[in-house]
Amino acid sequence: MLKQLLRTKPITPHRNTGLKQCLTAFDLALLGIGCAIGTGIFVLTGIAAATQSGPAVVLSFVLAGIASAFAALAYAELSSSVGGSGSAYGYSYVAFGEFAAWLMGWMLLLEYGVGAAAVANGWAGYFTNTLANIGLNLPEHFTKAPMLGGIINFPAFAIIWVLTILLMVGVKESARVNNIIVAIKISTIVIFLALAIGHISTDNWQPFMPFGWFQTLDNGKNVGVLAGASLVFFAYFGFDAVSTAAEECKNPQRDLPIGLIASLTFCTIIYIIVSATLTGVVPYTELNTASPVAYALTKLGHTWASTLVATGVLAGLITVLLVLLYGLTRILFAMSRDGLISPVFSAVNPDRQTPSKIILMCGFVVSIVAGFIPLGELAETVNIGTLASFVMVCVGVIRLRQTHPNLARPFKNPWNPVIPVLGILSCGALMSFLPAATWHRFGLWILAGVVFYFIYSMHHSKLNKTSQ
Ligand code: ALA
Repeated sequence: MLKQLLRTKPITPHRNTGLKQCLTAFDLALLGIGCAIGTGIFVLTGIAAATQSGPAVVLSFVLAGIASAFAALAYAELSSSVGGSGSAYGYSYVAFGEFAAWLMGWMLLLEYGVGAAAVANGWAGYFTNTLANIGLNLPEHFTKAPMLGGIINFPAFAIIWVLTILLMVGVKESARVNNIIVAIKISTIVIFLALAIGHISTDNWQPFMPFGWFQTLDNGKNVGVLAGASLVFFAYFGFDAVSTAAEECKNPQRDLPIGLIASLTFCTIIYIIVSATLTGVVPYTELNTASPVAYALTKLGHTWASTLVATGVLAGLITVLLVLLYGLTRILFAMSRDGLISPVFSAVNPDRQTPSKIILMCGFVVSIVAGFIPLGELAETVNIGTLASFVMVCVGVIRLRQTHPNLARPFKNPWNPVIPVLGILSCGALMSFLPAATWHRFGLWILAGVVFYFIYSMHHSKLNKTSQ
């Protein structure tokens, strides 16, 4: 049995698998930006500033960005050299073997699936508030999950179905829509900055670190710049979705590293500028609202711009959802093709060249979760899963340098193993700043994955069958 758990896949070159190969480096960078800029910068910046970091939330963004950068460099090396299914799941299969790959896939399901449901909830909140602002009040029963006294969060449920249908239409069409919406999202940020930067008062940056670097309060809540960094890390995850598109790129060896690094660099710069501006124009204590960016503009007297920005945020969150759902379907597609989940889900629709069945299944499950479960604190659970997957990717780089020293690496990190070791340390540190309750939920998720593996996956694994 141990032999099966540790059996690795051979490294395969990037190849044609029936999916349409149409994405360019530019599409990939926008895919990463589309998925990254969202709830994190538009909502969590305010919460982190008010409750954890103070104006030093800008430092929290820098720290989370540094950890993500090391992970991005590790992703870039693997995505340029390891073909096959792409994504951290595929890399784990060749670096560590089947069991670790399964665990990685399982963590990515948490990141993308629960992340999409959480962002759908955030979108629904903005949507409901924006409608209310123009006098259209949706019945409360249809905007809240049962646990919050409603029947269903219908906007969250519905937005997942709209995007599911879009993904079924085809990947190039989805990328085109993504590119347009990313442009709207960036324009929204530019409008905010243009109107707000002139009003920055350095008095608002005092005290700069009201909660210090790190402390645990009596109620178990972690505060300080480091705890803030592990929360605003949510703003960065998503750029890694670029790696799930390996099989649909025109030139994956060259374009994947460019897409990964370009999207992360762009997001980091935007986050630093936006968070510094936001805390510069409004005292950080006032920022714990559902829409801090719109709030700041209203406070400065730009009510029209506030509505415009809220609309841009709605569009922005749609691209986040689109890429999360896209990544989720492609990871499940790869796991199904390997026999670790039912083979029904790896059929490609010959007309549209998309894995229709799995897209439908994802739409169904995520829409139910989004419509019926209030996800609140699950953002932190998503973060811990993502950080753990980043750590594994960094370990994967070190491992493959040992097991395959002569592998062609079109993108190779210098000073091996400095970069992946720094990635392991920084992502591991961010994990350690998350609260105990988050660790407990994560442990339960992993346990469920291990049980599923031993009950189903190990008996249906294709790799196992071909090697017997
Ligand atoms: N990074 C994405 C966001 O902030 C998930 O919404």
